[in-house]
Amino acid sequence: MQGMVETVDRLFVHARELVTLTDGPARGARRGAAMQDLGVIADGAIAVRGGRVVAVGTTDSIARDYRASIEHDLSGTVVLPGFVDGHTHPVFAATREDEFHMRCAGADYMAIAAAGGGILSSVRAVRAATEDELLARTMRIFDGFLAAGTTTIEGKSGYGLSVEDEVKSLRALTRARDSHPLDVVRTFLGAHEVPLEYRDRREAYVDLVIDEMLPAVVGLCEACDVFAEPGVFDLEQSRRILRAAKAAGLRLRIHADEIRPMGGAELAVELGADSADHLPQVSDAGIRALAGSDTTAVLLPGTSFYLGKPKHAPARALIDAGAAVALATDYNPGSCHTQSMPLIVTLACVLLHMGPAECIVASTINPAASLGLDADIGTLHPGKQADFVALDLPSHRGLGYVFGGNPTVATVKRGEPVWPKPR
Ligand code: NIG
Ligand code: FE
Repeated sequence: MQGMVETVDRLFVHARELVTLTDGPARGARRGAAMQDLGVIADGAIAVRGGRVVAVGTTDSIARDYRASIEHDLSGTVVLPGFVDGHTHPVFAATREDEFHMRCAGADYMAIAAAGGGILSSVRAVRAATEDELLARTMRIFDGFLAAGTTTIEGKSGYGLSVEDEVKSLRALTRARDSHPLDVVRTFLGAHEVPLEYRDRREAYVDLVIDEMLPAVVGLCEACDVFAEPGVFDLEQSRRILRAAKAAGLRLRIHADEIRPMGGAELAVELGADSADHLPQVSDAGIRALAGSDTTAVLLPGTSFYLGKPKHAPARALIDAGAAVALATDYNPGSCHTQSMPLIVTLACVLLHMGPAECIVASTINPAASLGLDADIGTLHPGKQADFVALDLPSHRGLGYVFGGNPTVATVKRGEPVWPKPR
């Protein structure tokens, strides 16, 4: 007797390797040894209906059980769930290549910032830009994420640093999200730096963030972040801002223990934050705190590399202790100007000593879980969004190994090929 053949919208067939991540649970961050469970199918196929995965399997089995009027041939590619980039700063108005070359010539990132460059130069440009200008630029940047195989990002404001300019940034981000296939989790980062006009009254800026910015932005974002760093926002100022944000119903993320150690990781755990990000300077106590919590360690090796820092996040210690670890680009105009998760994976292998399966988990399901999106994305379990990327790689272990070019052959969002842009 012949089995029932089900009709779906599209079939994607003949992936050299289809990395489904279905060997592990559909939901939740994966830790330690569970970061090895990839669920790789040779000559893999995906059946899609209504933008969701109906089934994954070998091309033979999917072709036997499903029919569709549209069939895409993925021959020669390695297919992964779309990259989830859980830490980006995509709303800015001007690039900062001069500062990059100053650093390469020996200038220090924090010294440039203290002198009014760095983040503050991006603030001047954002304040001078209209919302429509920011929107147009952000849309192009979103295209760049799709081109790199990223299907979901977390995106922060933080180059406005006034009520009006933070609202303008988050409105531009929201409008870009609403008219672009990329999925975006929006984060308010009014506490990214103290603007020049508040340099001699820093507490007054903290009050402004809490009393005026938070109420103005709360409907325009899902989360709040703080650059918790000595000389920027200290531990108590960071705690005040994040507590107020939590009380306002926002989720929390923290730039923690990046340049100098400050206990940012411990603060993230104390407050129940979704993530503690950066972490090259995290203490042993911070590693233990993260390991015993649901706060994800979001590691940004592109930034420590690009700033020329000798010390990188202790990924091995974090993974071995049992912390939930994710990778992200930190895409921004200053400290890390790349949108490429494949490049970040190379840096994670070389500088953080992470293995290939760990890097894949840390670029898909783990960031999805840290953003609260793991019911819908991060693996190719049936029922999830059909978000995936087809890469020109010899095998899934070629991710990281191949570097410097863009291995992305096609990006598929909710079952629709979105890059290369359909003509
Ligand atoms: O994550 N460290 C603070 N924020 C960004 C840098 C932003 C910038 O330099 O414009 C970061 O690296
Ligand atoms: Fe950042």
